[in-house]
Amino acid sequence: MIDLTGILTEDQIALRQLIHDFLAKEVVPYAAEWDRDAIFPMETYKKGCEIGLNALELPAEYGGVGLSALDLAIAMEEVCWADAGFGATLGAHGLGMKPLLIAGSEAQRKHFAEIVLDKKGLSAFALTEPNAGSDAGATATTARRVGNEYVINGRKCFCTNAEYADIFTVFATVDKSLGIKGITAFTVDRDTPGLTVGKHEDKMGQRSSVTNDVVFEDMVVSESQRIGDEGKGFKIAMQTLDRGRAGAAASAAGVGRAALEHCVKYAKERCTMGKPIIEHQAVQIMLADMATAVETSRQIGWYVARLIDAGNLKEAAKVGAMSKCYATDALMKTCTDAVQIMGGYGYSKEYPVEKLFRDAKLFQIFEGTNQIQRTVIASALKREY
Ligand code: CAA
Repeated sequence: MIDLTGILTEDQIALRQLIHDFLAKEVVPYAAEWDRDAIFPMETYKKGCEIGLNALELPAEYGGVGLSALDLAIAMEEVCWADAGFGATLGAHGLGMKPLLIAGSEAQRKHFAEIVLDKKGLSAFALTEPNAGSDAGATATTARRVGNEYVINGRKCFCTNAEYADIFTVFATVDKSLGIKGITAFTVDRDTPGLTVGKHEDKMGQRSSVTNDVVFEDMVVSESQRIGDEGKGFKIAMQTLDRGRAGAAASAAGVGRAALEHCVKYAKERCTMGKPIIEHQAVQIMLADMATAVETSRQIGWYVARLIDAGNLKEAAKVGAMSKCYATDALMKTCTDAVQIMGGYGYSKEYPVEKLFRDAKLFQIFEGTNQIQRTVIASALKREY
């Protein structure tokens, strides 16, 4: 790890070291096996709860670690340096939690905290549907009001953590004719009758995180489970995703850093034409670009995090979209070059960069595709000038 004394506070340096050491011991040695067999490492997650991985963002008043957005970005770089799938699990858990921090009631937050802290539970963010991915406003899952309850019907897909989640944040429309103004958020326990976790996706990368369909059949929830007012769900979802993007950029920096570390080591050992390949200018150019991408991704992620911590959410939404698409596109290039530098070994499953290449791809797709990020940036520019 690079020395950041004087740049980060002593507490941030200690946090970074704590998370790094835990992951180097408990995740790095097993990540290839989890990837090969698509294993979600529940025992490791539970061990991680002892250093607060289940409650990084949960405010201290609810018993959590209460990290700032900047602290969280620092932590997520380390997590994704170790294993992007483990990072996706924690990132999606954060997405499940954020709506409650944005608009949840005191009772909802306390209930969430009990599940996460006492049961070492996980949460999931159930927004995406077969016909409402990039177009989140097309949510078709319905929440029909009956007295002081809602009856929810519909199907979510690509829901990270669903298989093991103890609590879900669910988005459904109370009236489809209202468009996005009908979308409403709910907090739902896993054991609620009518909630079924379906198909497990057999993914290309980030295979230690689980991704499933979730089906709701006449699932009854009470009014007290509604997060915020009726019709506010779309905004809550957007604000949640805005706050997640600093983490996505920092996560990309972590995966890119892992690729860079493998490649520099390899390039110093591997010789062609009588010298280590790190002495060849063509390889130096790729390594220099990789290192620059890691640094700039980290910095833009931290900048967005600082905007969030300062409460400048409008700017954070725009620059957050920039950070997500810049850092994750840069990551894809970094991992493509990593495979190139290692040649045949880079393409082989025996060596780690092949996994990083597959893991990288998902970053360009989830938490809003990079095309959608550019739409968000362009919309902000239209308003700004
Ligand atoms: N914050 C607050 N409000 C916002 C907002 C934001 N960031 N973005 C939009 N809004 C508000 C607008 O102000 C507008 O409100 P008014 O009607 O009151 O003016 C309203 O929402 C509609 O805005 P738009 O017209 O911009 O909405 P749109 O329908 O064109 O969609 C979109 C915008 C940005 C494309 C949105 O649909 C979107 O973000 N799509 C991507 C969804 C996404 O990221 N999905 C990933 C889910 S997580 C995941 O990957 C799964 C996992 O488990 C990891």
